[in-house]
Amino acid sequence: MSFDRSIKIAPSILSADFANFGQEIQAIEAQGADWVHIDVMDGHFVPNLTFGPMAVKAFRPHVKTVMDVHLMIAPVDPYIDAYADAGTDVLTAHIEAGPHIHRTLQAIRAAGMKAGVALNPGTPAEAVAHLLDLTDLICVMTVNPGFGGQKFIDMTSKIRGLRSMIGDRPVHIEIDGGVDPSTAPLVAEAGADVLVAGSAVFKGGSVNDPDVYGANIRNIRDAANGVWA
Ligand code: DX5
Ligand code: ZN
Repeated sequence: MSFDRSIKIAPSILSADFANFGQEIQAIEAQGADWVHIDVMDGHFVPNLTFGPMAVKAFRPHVKTVMDVHLMIAPVDPYIDAYADAGTDVLTAHIEAGPHIHRTLQAIRAAGMKAGVALNPGTPAEAVAHLLDLTDLICVMTVNPGFGGQKFIDMTSKIRGLRSMIGDRPVHIEIDGGVDPSTAPLVAEAGADVLVAGSAVFKGGSVNDPDVYGANIRNIRDAANGVWA
């Protein structure tokens, strides 16, 4: 994984057909996805439940790009090795998930993965001020985590603050929640480079009609890059 700040679209398979993850992952990658975003929920840190490390390991052979795993679980530390074993490229933990995010980020890197830290909408940018050299990605939640298809919450000033705190460090800013062609330009202009999108990518398509995924991905990317159709 080399570092760059170009816009990357990371479809969230939370909006895919849960009976057909392998083909769904292949379809979004063939249609231009840069990363594959995988939402792990535990029914405790967030009020919804998805899948765990065994399922993520089963997704791995289908992911040819970057497997970006977003943990919405607490605690995190007992599961880090299982996600490394599953073949995770980027493992992101929430700063709100426990008292020792500094230790968690160290452990994620020590297990051989890129380390991400996610911030809920109510958590300020300053919360990561002492973590910038321990992290490879900061995920700014633009919805309260737990469900796809929610309304975008404007976090533009937080994104700008993070972008300036990051400076020249090779740290991605990822946006998660409510990203579509109307909100993508706001977050891209503020300094984000990884755009997660669930409903806006999968809307209207299927593995039998994958061109729709391609058009949806292109529309988000073009909007983020300031290309107006
Ligand atoms: C929300 C998840 C998101 C979600 C985004 O808790 O972390 O990744 O799938 O879905 P959309 O793009 O539909 O808001
Ligand atoms: Zn997510």
